[in-house]
Amino acid sequence: MSVELKEIQHGTSEYEKAVQLRREVLRKPLGLEYTPEQLAAEATERHFVGECGESGSPEYLCSACLAEEEPGLARIRQVAVREDCQGKGIGRDLMEFVESEAKAAGYTKVMLCSRHYAIPFYEKLGYECVSDWFEEVGMPHRSMIKSL
Ligand SMILES: CC(C)(COP(=O)(O)OP(=O)(O)OC[C@H]1O[C@@H](n2cnc3c(N)ncnc32)[C@H](O)[C@@H]1OP(=O)(O)O)[C@@H](O)C(=O)NCCC(=O)NCCS
Repeated sequence: MSVELKEIQHGTSEYEKAVQLRREVLRKPLGLEYTPEQLAAEATERHFVGECGESGSPEYLCSACLAEEEPGLARIRQVAVREDCQGKGIGRDLMEFVESEAKAAGYTKVMLCSRHYAIPFYEKLGYECVSDWFEEVGMPHRSMIKSL
């Protein structure tokens, strides 16, 4: 499957489509929804998607956000691959794309907060756990970091 990775802009129809993908993958299974405040706060972040299909009506298969955590350290958030496309290397390609964008923007490290079951995925990509367990969206998480 050929997936084209690209950056999209907050507040556009493309952004709405990416939010819908994230809603299905990251929120609905937990019985949660994004608040308008949460989505408005994403205006300061960069947004990435992977698409396939006709150029006039591409389908979004994955999505992630990139934010500044502190000078030199970027944070990747909201990593989501459509359920029927998981396990095919798309998450890895998405992470490598977002990491290369973070490096090109001058960041030397990238961090994220991983759900417990996704930790082995991020470890395969070179991330290390740097915190104890904490709870977010009702689920155990750990902070992870990688040098770029
Ligand atoms: C977690 C997620 C982003 C991974 O993306 P993906 O496209 O399914 O993963 P990939 O196919 O690129 O996997 C890359 C490697 O990680 C491994 N991997 C992926 N998910 C894994 C998991 N949960 N546990 C262990 N290994 C995993 C794959 O087997 C593969 O290993 P390989 O290189 O030895 O073949 C995706 O499954 C997803 O969106 N899950 C639901 C939402 C979510 O949990 N997001 C992360 C929140 S922190």
